[in-house]
Amino acid sequence: MSVPAAKTGGPGEAQARHVAIIMDGNGRWAKKRRMPRAFGHQKGVEAVRALVRGAQGLGLEVLTLYAFSTENWRRPEDEISDLMGLMERFILSDLEEMAGNNIRLKIIGDYKAFKGELVDLIEGALTRTAANTGTTIAVALNYGSMDEIARAATKAAAEGPITPETIARHLDTADLPPLDLLIRTSGEERLSNFLLWQAAYAELWFTDVLWPDFTADHLKQAMQDFATRERRYGGR
Ligand code: IPE
Ligand code: IPE
Ligand code: MG
Repeated sequence: MSVPAAKTGGPGEAQARHVAIIMDGNGRWAKKRRMPRAFGHQKGVEAVRALVRGAQGLGLEVLTLYAFSTENWRRPEDEISDLMGLMERFILSDLEEMAGNNIRLKIIGDYKAFKGELVDLIEGALTRTAANTGTTIAVALNYGSMDEIARAATKAAAEGPITPETIARHLDTADLPPLDLLIRTSGEERLSNFLLWQAAYAELWFTDVLWPDFTADHLKQAMQDFATRERRYGGR
């Protein structure tokens, strides 16, 4: 994907093809209820499940979800292991439903750094849904933009001159449509090393809603908002 040459659509017309979400606020959601962070993460997974179901009718080609960053290894070991356990259980419980709904799963990030059983489950899920033609759910696992760009630049350099095009061709998102809309929940307004390159001309949408409370209606609202924006890509 690269920066489109000219503006596309006009106010009220644009249908987002690719939306990405920084799913933030599980810990604060739990804290507000005097519950452990793990409970917030569990509710966060339920929000993912409901959103993936609810996103079906929204005309999206790709929904990219930031689930674990290259910096999240800085968290205490027990929290990391809670998150890994939730991922395993989510694949085991939800893969068949997603596969049956024609969802194609994709991973961005260096997921092979995870432990072997989880890598095997992930690869099984990728294979199981590879031929599907509906919405792509791209999950960012052990993902960091700086790491992604460094990996892409290394591959590009081995082939010849480094240009924006040759780097873009090797990004984890190379086969996805351009990023249209980037959402972050929980009131934080930063990118936290997510899709830095791809967000060059994406529209940004922030909400105070904490991730476990985020629903398909919020996504719909963000997409309606997106449709009213005029994208100029530096032109006029
Ligand atoms: C997002 O919720 C989930 C991950 C980063 C894995 P947090 O765990 O960051 O929740 P807060 O930001 O502490 O509320
Ligand atoms: C970003 O959230 C990562 C994910 C949502 C997976 P963080 O909670 O890790 O981000 P910071 O630390 O507040 O920037
Ligand atoms: Mg957070």
